[in-house]
Amino acid sequence: MGRRVLRSAILLVFCASALAFKEHEFKKCAQTSFCSRNRNVQQGANFEIVPASIVLNTATLTATLINQPASKHLQLTVASHADGFVRVQVDESPSVGRYQVPTDVLISGWENKKQPFTETGRTSSKLTLATGEDTKVELTFQPFTLAIMVKGQPALLVNSRNLFNFEHRRTKQDNDPAGYWEETWQGHTDSKPKGPEAMSLDLVFPGFQHVYGIPERATALSLKATNGAAPYGEPYRLYNLDVFEYLDDHPFGLYGSIPVMLAHKKGLTVGVFWLNAAEMFVDVVKSRSEVGTQWIAESGIVDLFVFTGGSAPGVLASYAKVAGTTALPQLFSLGYHQCRWNYKDEADVKAVDGGFDSHEIPYDVLWLDIEHTNGKRYLTWDSSLFPSPVAMQEDLASRGRQMVTIVDPHVKRDHSYYIFAEAEQQGHYVKNKNNNDFDGWCWPGSSSYLDVTSPVVREWWAAQFTVDKYKGSTKHLYIWNDMNEPSVFNGPEITMPKDNLHFGGVEHRDNHNLYGVYYHMGTAEGLKLRGSQLDPENGDRPFVLSRAFFSGTQRVGPIWTGDNAAQWSHLKVSVPMLLTLGLTGLPNSGADVGGFFGNPDAELMTRWYQLGIYYPFFRGHAHLETQRREPWLFGPDHTARIRAAIRGRYALMPYIYTLFRFANTTGMPILRPLWFEFPEAEDLFAVEEEFMVGPGMLVKPITAPGVSSTDVILPAGARWYDAATGAAVTAKNRHRVQVTMDAIPVYYRGGHIVPRRERPRRSTAAQASDPYTLVVALDDKSEASGSLYVDDGHSFAFQRGLYLHRSFSFSNLKLTSSVHVEPGVPDGTLTVPTTIERVVFLGLPPSRRGYKALIGGKRSEPLEAGPLSMVAAPGSEHALVLRKPDLPVSHDWVIEIVTA
Ligand code: GLC
Repeated sequence: MGRRVLRSAILLVFCASALAFKEHEFKKCAQTSFCSRNRNVQQGANFEIVPASIVLNTATLTATLINQPASKHLQLTVASHADGFVRVQVDESPSVGRYQVPTDVLISGWENKKQPFTETGRTSSKLTLATGEDTKVELTFQPFTLAIMVKGQPALLVNSRNLFNFEHRRTKQDNDPAGYWEETWQGHTDSKPKGPEAMSLDLVFPGFQHVYGIPERATALSLKATNGAAPYGEPYRLYNLDVFEYLDDHPFGLYGSIPVMLAHKKGLTVGVFWLNAAEMFVDVVKSRSEVGTQWIAESGIVDLFVFTGGSAPGVLASYAKVAGTTALPQLFSLGYHQCRWNYKDEADVKAVDGGFDSHEIPYDVLWLDIEHTNGKRYLTWDSSLFPSPVAMQEDLASRGRQMVTIVDPHVKRDHSYYIFAEAEQQGHYVKNKNNNDFDGWCWPGSSSYLDVTSPVVREWWAAQFTVDKYKGSTKHLYIWNDMNEPSVFNGPEITMPKDNLHFGGVEHRDNHNLYGVYYHMGTAEGLKLRGSQLDPENGDRPFVLSRAFFSGTQRVGPIWTGDNAAQWSHLKVSVPMLLTLGLTGLPNSGADVGGFFGNPDAELMTRWYQLGIYYPFFRGHAHLETQRREPWLFGPDHTARIRAAIRGRYALMPYIYTLFRFANTTGMPILRPLWFEFPEAEDLFAVEEEFMVGPGMLVKPITAPGVSSTDVILPAGARWYDAATGAAVTAKNRHRVQVTMDAIPVYYRGGHIVPRRERPRRSTAAQASDPYTLVVALDDKSEASGSLYVDDGHSFAFQRGLYLHRSFSFSNLKLTSSVHVEPGVPDGTLTVPTTIERVVFLGLPPSRRGYKALIGGKRSEPLEAGPLSMVAAPGSEHALVLRKPDLPVSHDWVIEIVTA
């Protein structure tokens, strides 16, 4: 009883009162000293390069920057790296000791792979350097500017508007302006012991109209200018915050931050990454000839990576060399996840699990939110509600399913709680400004926060997840990290005070945006450790969902877009939000299907599932106070539609897993904006109403109620096939289609081969030995290609080459299967006993006599008009189907199509 009362009290005080986004509870630029003084910096901060100080050492240029008349001395370093980027750093003398993001946030290996500069011109005012295949760096001395040219075109101008500013560390002066050494916000005083130390960076993308990136916020894909009408008169903010009921079209920064921006125009994409974990604001100003941006960070140094690969895939590949690629997820984690705050007890879990089976809806994971614990003491169980957690997990696992429990970073201050006591005794908590363990409020009430920025604390934390330590856990239990911005209900802007102290004496101000990724890392290390104990040879890939994130989170696990609402506008904005995450290296992401707050009606719920099956991370979730909404609760017609949608996801699993393989090896996103695939089509640069799933499928979600027809843009230059019927779509570009409640418009793109598994099963585990279907969608030249990646789906054995990657290509009427060769990656050595059971051809030229297939040069089988999919609706007769080729998926083979 006491537990419930406490929860209600907390909800009432901290949550119910905030049941709408309360803008006034969060700071704007004008209310933030460092932002307002730098945003309003007048042109003419006047930094210049001292020509005599320039030293060019192969791939690295150093020079002194001074500011007239104040004579600030700064060190400028420009380095050219072999992986397709130039790095620009500006710092004070290293003896000042300004904060730099620790190297473990990134990956290693790229630092010393440099690409020499060649000096191609020098005058008294200018120096030009060439590097790589097609990159030039031009430095102008007075005032200091740096221009980067790619493929002969200007790609980025640094300080062309003279807005660069750098606040030196200084000693306190009597006449210092307010806000330099102390700042108060809604009763919270930030003591700012180091004084002002902000920077402003002026980055212009000349000739560009569109910039993308800098998540997380619920806003357009192509970033709007920030000098517009409210709320877009405010710069974009990068400061990880727990924002209750965020709005669906607002520049306000949410739970995670990735300081990466891409600019794209015909013929050129350029990317920038400012490696800085402090609070940041970014203004975007557009004119006919350029996009100007101003980036303002509260502390740290200027550490700018400029990716010069020239195309979006090139930019993402280079970024991945620095920040890493997406961890290859466990196959189960790409299935459907059923979550709710809260599944009440073991009987509830059993009933929900059984509901999926009795309604023949596949799913893989059942989730338990905070109420499963003993009083919000994470890694414990409420023993009256969950008396036998091991048996519960084993029961789910007997049907191939997993469980996830929530584990948040706040630790209830209770000496009888082993985690609290041990961490306190070992000094593992973040400190307040007086160097005492910080005490803040979150779900359990008074809490301390693990200082996961310390590798020692992360190691200790990881050790808590072994099955002997985490009582009631099994190898079928995975983890959800929430509230890791970190959320502090009674803190400034619902987070930690900036003058809190971390390991090494680092102020929270400096590393705020890293807290989430470090917590996520520590937890994932825990699951890895558990896996390596249970299977020393192969281990177990961790699955940990996080809410907060930063660059590098992709190496750890998926994120979701937090507390959205059961509204059409939130369904709609989930698309640009996820596309943006894909463009900034974090494709493994999803939005709560159905919307977290509120009650979706049957139509919204069904449309959300129809879209959600394409989210890389696909989970239904709901707030504690919402009505139950398991997929079969919306009446038989909607249950049937949701069943068909979720089964559609499972049918696509081979394609999605293969896309994840490429995300893992090359940094490519899963969901892609149309322009990513059609980079020359200017009219697509701002399209966010539809998206590509990999290179081969296009999806147009329905984002409003009562829709019976919709416009679909099918980019010119490709052939498109209706994925429900296989019919070729002849109309180009905007195309009006009829829609029913049964499905949303989805298309195969000619030129691509999509592997599928069509047998309805209860989970991914149950699909393990199912045969494959290949959908071969032909382009104008009657060609197509694609691949299929297979491994054990759960361990690290793939890193030892235990995987199968087949390449399929169709040309000259021959479909060939061969080893897929990835540059720099050893070929896989796995063989699997599975077969290709069907091949579906879309777009074969009409033949009066019909076609037959010669399989392996021997057997001949007819091609018959038939349904595209074994689960397709009647009337989908536009495909030519080769039934039962029964070819081993691991072997080389050829199928030749000849006229009958
Ligand atoms: C936060 C999470 C939400 C979760 C709730 C209770 O609001 O974003 O997903 O259900 O906390 O743990």
